[in-house]
Amino acid sequence: MRIDILTLFPEIALAPLSESIIQRARAAGLVEIHAHNIRDWSTDKHRRTDDTLCGGGQGMLMMPGPIFAAIEELRRPETKIILMTPQGRVFKQAIARELSEAQHLILLCGHYEGVDHRVIESLVDLELSIGDYVLTNGAIAAAVVTDAIVRLLPGALGDERSHQDESFSDPNLLEAPAYTRPIDFRGMKVPEVLTSGHHAKIIKWKQEKALERTRANRPDLLGE
Ligand code: ADE
Repeated sequence: MRIDILTLFPEIALAPLSESIIQRARAAGLVEIHAHNIRDWSTDKHRRTDDTLCGGGQGMLMMPGPIFAAIEELRRPETKIILMTPQGRVFKQAIARELSEAQHLILLCGHYEGVDHRVIESLVDLELSIGDYVLTNGAIAAAVVTDAIVRLLPGALGDERSHQDESFSDPNLLEAPAYTRPIDFRGMKVPEVLTSGHHAKIIKWKQEKALERTRANRPDLLGE
């Protein structure tokens, strides 16, 4: 898989993708990640990439020229082009799973008030938001989406089982609470059932606690 991130801040996008599991996946050749500065495709002598809004309004918008030029240079027939924007579909594990099957992704990061709508109409396959809040720029969102996709690539996580019981594998249930040693920490004890060795009881306990936690933190997942 190859992921190209188009942004005004390539360092912001790359920093969180240059450590730990994602860096190892890159080193192992599971994914090639590149971050490019959209300014490099500006033909303006000041390397400008933004302009004022047609019809008036506060702020600046990214202009189409440099974005079209960058995408036309980088895209291939199989490329999926994704725009990071708070106006997009909300990113979920199911979308990460679907995108992890792609050969080539271009993640286009908005800045200022967003991008000229002709970019979206002509080039973009999917508008994606990482949540209902506004970031200063889409490079942070692109790093989040890239991380969630790359960890799903076969071989990225050492232990394949770790995909299975985590939250959002069952999209309607959060994970149960988890404990490690010591069994007694400052008088706070690990629930006895977890050290009982009784597997059926442990599974039942985990299901109950998962439901309890989901009800407390994410009742929307239960339709409540
Ligand atoms: N750019 C700014 N805010 C964003 C968000 N919530 N998701 C994706 N891109 C963004």
